[in-house]
Amino acid sequence: MYHPDEIKILQKQSHNWLSYVSNTNQEKKAPGTVEDLRQVLRFHENRYYVMNDPLLSDFEYDSLFKYLEKWEKEDPSIITKDSPTQRVGIGLIKDFPKRQHLVPMLSLENSYNADDLLDWDRKARELSKLAEIEYCVEPKFDGASISVVYDHDQLSRGLTRGDGETGDDITPNIKQIRTLPLSAKFSNYGIEQIEIRGEVLMNKNNFKQYNEALIEEGTPPLANPRNAAAGSLRIKDPFIVSKRNLEAFLYHVSYFTLTAQSGLEPKTHSGMLEMLWILGFRSPKQEMKVVTGIQGVIQYITSFEEKRDSLPYEIDGMVIKVNDLHLQDQLGNTSHHPRWAIAYKFKARQATSQLLGVEFQVGRTGAVTPVAKIKPVQVGGVTVSSISIHNEDYIKDKDLMIGDAILIERSGDVIPQIVKSLPELRNGNETLIEFPKKCPVCHTALFKPVDEAVWRCVNINCEAQIIERIIHFVSKDAMDIRSFGEANVRRFYSLGILPDVPSIYTLDFETIKKIEGFGIKSAENLQQAIESSKNQSLHRLIYALGIRFVGETTAKTLAQSIDHVYDLAKLSPEKLMLFEDVGVKVANSIYEFFKNEDNLKMLQKLEQLGVSLQRKENMPVSGDLAGQTFLFTGTLQELKRSEAETMVENLGGKIVSGVSSKLHYLVVGEDAGSKLEKAKKIPSIKILNEKDFLTLMNK
Ligand code: IVH
Repeated sequence: MYHPDEIKILQKQSHNWLSYVSNTNQEKKAPGTVEDLRQVLRFHENRYYVMNDPLLSDFEYDSLFKYLEKWEKEDPSIITKDSPTQRVGIGLIKDFPKRQHLVPMLSLENSYNADDLLDWDRKARELSKLAEIEYCVEPKFDGASISVVYDHDQLSRGLTRGDGETGDDITPNIKQIRTLPLSAKFSNYGIEQIEIRGEVLMNKNNFKQYNEALIEEGTPPLANPRNAAAGSLRIKDPFIVSKRNLEAFLYHVSYFTLTAQSGLEPKTHSGMLEMLWILGFRSPKQEMKVVTGIQGVIQYITSFEEKRDSLPYEIDGMVIKVNDLHLQDQLGNTSHHPRWAIAYKFKARQATSQLLGVEFQVGRTGAVTPVAKIKPVQVGGVTVSSISIHNEDYIKDKDLMIGDAILIERSGDVIPQIVKSLPELRNGNETLIEFPKKCPVCHTALFKPVDEAVWRCVNINCEAQIIERIIHFVSKDAMDIRSFGEANVRRFYSLGILPDVPSIYTLDFETIKKIEGFGIKSAENLQQAIESSKNQSLHRLIYALGIRFVGETTAKTLAQSIDHVYDLAKLSPEKLMLFEDVGVKVANSIYEFFKNEDNLKMLQKLEQLGVSLQRKENMPVSGDLAGQTFLFTGTLQELKRSEAETMVENLGGKIVSGVSSKLHYLVVGEDAGSKLEKAKKIPSIKILNEKDFLTLMNK
């Protein structure tokens, strides 16, 4: 953590460095030493990754980083181990050597209800002979657990948990985690060597994007962010690890040694978390609560569980720790777990069910996906009755048979996944899952490309594919044509009035109004929604085209750099690969799409029917919001949140995810919470109600 005076100095220095770096002839003297520049970069890493409140744009940060890289390249003798440049490019890890933890990593005893906690507290009070105990309560992070060691203020190694005694040395991967400083001033506390335990996580947002990318490339998604984090730590190339955007929470100091004259080290667990926070670590300092007596613990746990879904990362419970370190020592450990801490597990998001049968669905690209029909079961608050089981390899990996008992998981808003089958419960009546040889809809023989795991129907006129392409085109994340749900697409298709995508724009509403059960009002709403989709943003249109491997993120990248969809048709795969995150596979797929005459004809038809294929964000609009950032909080009355966000984006504004000094407008609906409170403290943020917002939009 940085002192306000320090922040002022570092801000000033950042400004000096930025103007120095952007001045190309650089005749002026550098505004400081190479170590000064490193300090500035470390400060901004902390603002961005730990505080979630960046003070520089990505571009500004990158230009400083690149300058440091250049400087160090010219004279490698000045490189230090803790230079921000040293996170990436350490080289490939061949194998992970095994190393011993300084202190064995015990696991925690679990509790599931208030009675378990009352029992545990009673035992601790009996052993300590205290009337009441001070506890520190904090989230139980659901990720991959690690231990890190700092020697003389330098990060010297990072291990996986392993068997608790020894773990795999994954130091180069650990160094890719930007919430972990490569050096920290433990010496200020008289600490020479320290071992700290923590959890590596992939936050929900990154996990969602990561899974979307897997699905786009035809790889089954992962069941939860925990698996994504654990898997990422075991990748042999630290460069790839750096791309996964892992984060770490550090929550327990397991060991430390002191210099001779010390006494500065914290004496409580919460004090340790404060120290870690001050030294620039992401510890649960903001999430923790220190309470005296077990009733306060129970209250805090209950209130925190309500927030579970709105947190940016997954937690699976809370951990309660005796706060006084001396008392922790006194209570000691059993052979399995400490007596001074206990985990409280939230309601499970896993459940067992039975695999009743498998249906095969044909997607918009012809991929035939097996979908397991399961005995309906409640998980994480919803009833699940069918789950995608992706492809043949997945079925083999999970050892799935019809009739099997299965364990399923629904983590946060992630689509439910099968974690595993329970073959030990088989009774001999289970049957193998047989893949069809022909398309279940048009009966064309299925084909499996050599390098793919998926069987495909290659008939692009297959009814199922056409319908799925239309469903995708109108869907919420694509052209977002409200009231045009899947059922309507199927209905109109079967009536012969919606044979392809362009016919969305020639629908005869007089006929639709007469369809049984279709009121005049809903027909008018649909007509209105179709009409307004003609001016939908370019990135949504690109995504709506359903080009293989082009997900929402890639569509946005492409749309930012072109003015018209046809610009993509002019680019070779090599040129397409110059776009960020566009690799060979994506580039070839885009290239093939625009080489196909049928696709070009479809685009021409759309254009003739009034659908804009142009970028709107650059077109001059009155009340242009370019460069302005918006955030919505609470429930809006007139508008849906997504409508309001689209309005901002259509005028060139940007939606951001958190309150920071970079936010220009906070739009407040009903029941606004902590975001409003935080924004009130930052004078530069304009706070608008829904009416003010609409006035601004109409200006
Ligand atoms: S304390 C000796 N605190 O939950 C006690 N653990 O078995 C050290 N975990 O293995 C653990 N959040 O991987 C602690 N705030 C937290 C935690 C936490 C997650 C994990 C950790 C541990 C497991 C419990």
